[in-house]
Amino acid sequence: MAEKKLMLEIAPTTAKPSVKVTVVGTGQVGMAVAYSLMLKNVASEIAMVDINEDRLKGELMDLQHGQSFVPDVTITGSTDYAITKDSAICVVTAGARQHEGQTRIDLVQKNVSIFKNIIPNLVKYSPKAILLIVSNPVDVLTWVAWKLSALPRNRIFGSGTMLDSSRLRFLLSQRFGVSPSCCHAYVIGEHGDSSVPVWSAVAIAGTRLRQVSPKCGLEGDPDNWDQLHRDVVNSAYEVVQMKGHTNWATGMMVSKLCGCILRNEHRPFCLTTNVKGLYDMTESTFMSVPCIVGENGISHVLLQALDETEKAKLIASAKLLLCVQKTVVL
Ligand code: NAI
Ligand code: LAC
Repeated sequence: MAEKKLMLEIAPTTAKPSVKVTVVGTGQVGMAVAYSLMLKNVASEIAMVDINEDRLKGELMDLQHGQSFVPDVTITGSTDYAITKDSAICVVTAGARQHEGQTRIDLVQKNVSIFKNIIPNLVKYSPKAILLIVSNPVDVLTWVAWKLSALPRNRIFGSGTMLDSSRLRFLLSQRFGVSPSCCHAYVIGEHGDSSVPVWSAVAIAGTRLRQVSPKCGLEGDPDNWDQLHRDVVNSAYEVVQMKGHTNWATGMMVSKLCGCILRNEHRPFCLTTNVKGLYDMTESTFMSVPCIVGENGISHVLLQALDETEKAKLIASAKLLLCVQKTVVL
């Protein structure tokens, strides 16, 4: 008996153009990234890689079971990097995370060792991709990924202090009772304990904070604005102590960044990039400064007019990161 057909072909179909984002590491952060990419309809394909095959397959199935509730997306996963072929963006979240009492820098040796396998494989299958590093210590690991990948400066960067800046914007929004979207604030330098709040550039709905609080962030500041920055630095430790990890804000941050790249939005974000030649830096040092991001990755670095306090703190942060960079054996 002739097989009944479900449908009659009228014309041949072609494969839909794929905008593929790879996420390496299907742990707390990687899954928050994948989940946010799905909900915000950022990519048409999400490829996931992890060494833990059961975890990978379990997370993959769980996301696939929700596909009928979100915009169309193809989700694939494998321990084999071939699955990442022709990715537009490769996000690296694999590796050890801080436990209570640990700093991000404490993770460097372990995560450098796993990068030696991850990075060459990503570049092998997607030589034209943008590489976005999230694993910590993100600044040093971005330098490692740059060394291992030999990608041009615009296509290899880390999420850096984009998260720290978002945390400061949230705290400012709470202080002033306004939306975080109208609190413009940049935290630069290390994504970590030596980060630098650029108080001279903070503006709330277009009004510079120093117009109303002239000593903001300076010696003898009667309003103690620096406490907000200390709260930013402490926030990851507090969240890790309470729930064991941070992930949701990072997932939203990465999907925002991927959307900006794939839609060529030319937005400013504080990202980990090579600051050689900036602020008298004479060696390739990777840390966060405000960058303009579009389809080719970082198109510009913003040359902020820092005050003397901010510049001194930034150089101190750079020196700290350079010291850690020099301990790394590739
Ligand atoms: P997790 O332990 O939940 O997940 C890590 C995943 O990496 C695991 O699934 C593990 O199997 C996988 N993995 C380990 N070695 C691998 C390899 N060689 N190849 C592929 N996959 C491998 O950790 P979590 O919480 O997801 O954190 C991941 C990283 O992200 C940590 O380094 C953490 O510090 C960092 N992080 C960075 C943030 C930032 O703002 N830059 C924010 C939050 C976390
Ligand atoms: C954070 C750490 C985990 O800032 O990097 O959430």
